[in-house]
Amino acid sequence: MLEVTGLRVAYGGIQAVRGISFHVNDGEMVALIGANGAGKTSTLKALSRLLNAAGGSVRYGGREISALAPHQLISQGIALVPEGRGVFPRMSIVENLLMGAYIRDDKAAIAADQHHVFSLFPRLAERAQQLAGTLSGGEQQMLAIGRALMSRPKLLLLDEPSMGLAPLMVQKIFEVIRTVADEGMTVLLVEQNAKLALEVSRRAYVMESGEITLTDDSAKLLENPRVREAYLGE
Ligand SMILES: Nc1ncnc2c1ncn2[C@@H]1O[C@H](COP(=O)(O)OP(=O)(O)O)[C@@H](O)[C@H]1O
Ligand SMILES: [Mg+2]
Repeated sequence: MLEVTGLRVAYGGIQAVRGISFHVNDGEMVALIGANGAGKTSTLKALSRLLNAAGGSVRYGGREISALAPHQLISQGIALVPEGRGVFPRMSIVENLLMGAYIRDDKAAIAADQHHVFSLFPRLAERAQQLAGTLSGGEQQMLAIGRALMSRPKLLLLDEPSMGLAPLMVQKIFEVIRTVADEGMTVLLVEQNAKLALEVSRRAYVMESGEITLTDDSAKLLENPRVREAYLGE
């Protein structure tokens, strides 16, 4: 479904992503793990066209998408849940969710999807009219995921959903990510929390200093001594 070849991202003279290649198959959950500063967010931003790549190709469903605008990617079925969530603080939960559906005009289906998001995240349903800026970090993360789902994506890009959250909240959010994947969504999960990401994904890529240095089935990476030492603190 997604095929990235030789992707490069640079900030001025600094190369943050140095020609990485990876792919995500239809219906698969794939993790991209790596330490802070490895280039994970830069990779997702280049994929979702929030910044221009310095080189490489991004094919989605067989088609080159590296020159499309961000809103065109949304209508192609690609949704990003950005690092730091990016909810609209002065809008309510419901208004934020509807923003996620702004490219759609199928009112009944939008209402059904809102209902579905509320069933995935009952905490959002209980607070439907609350302003997003007054939500806890975990609730904002739920909202950011819910808002992305409202565009009915085929491919969901998640940037560090666990960042800054208490373990219980992380667990809840990852249960929902797993549910969404089990429902058939294709997911690319970027995480610094390697243990969580490897437990929930099928395959993974390890990124270090702008390069992919290792890839395997997630279950195998969990057993890999190098990964255990560098990323699992063992
Ligand atoms: N806007 C920016 N301007 C300059 N350098 C940046 C910018 N964003 C990220 N970088 C640099 O690019 C590298 C990769 O960062 P990032 O993609 O955010 O990594 P990660 O998400 O894995 O923590 C880091 O060295 C970071 O300092
Ligand atoms: Mg990041």
